Amino acid sequence: MLKVFLIFLGLLALSSATTLYTEAEESTSDPTDTTTAPEACLYERQPWASVNPSQYYICADNKPKLTNCNEGYYFVRNATLSGCIPAKKMNPNCVNLDVTVGPCTGINLKQPQASQVLTNFWLCTEENAAPVELTCVDDKAFVKQEGYLGCFDWEVWRALRGCN
Ligand SMILES: *[C@@H]1O[C@H](CO)[C@@H](O)[C@H](O)[C@H]1NC(C)=O
Repeated sequence: MLKVFLIFLGLLALSSATTLYTEAEESTSDPTDTTTAPEACLYERQPWASVNPSQYYICADNKPKLTNCNEGYYFVRNATLSGCIPAKKMNPNCVNLDVTVGPCTGINLKQPQASQVLTNFWLCTEENAAPVELTCVDDKAFVKQEGYLGCFDWEVWRALRGCN
């Protein structure tokens, strides 16, 4: 099963290489790029969204300060509310509320599985072992859909998930 693990690491490396390239291109052409911390506050007295739905910005000393929602809470700002709300009240496309991890048999030996924590994934190292929960590097999000498998930038995650 070590081979499977190495293949997956290869996929991770591949996806991060691809996303690094995209990031470099975007940051020169798109001033609204949110992958890097914004320089200026969008609002002085109100929080605003980050690309990672578990986080938001507040303005402190005239600088944006990235802040985490409590575990299981996600930031929403729309016409009716602004703040961290529990996963079950979120747009289901933006959370992994009903995700459960399957046993280490069959396809689960070859492919990592999504976790309720968006930045994590479950990996099977051998048949019938207990799955191990790992975290994507560089605050990336785990994606397993439409041929995408691995850790990707939040912009890619949001686009694939339809989470806006
Ligand atoms: C604001 O977001 C909440 C949570 O996703 C949702 O239930 C509500 O309908 C939204 N309100 C508007 C006006 O979009």
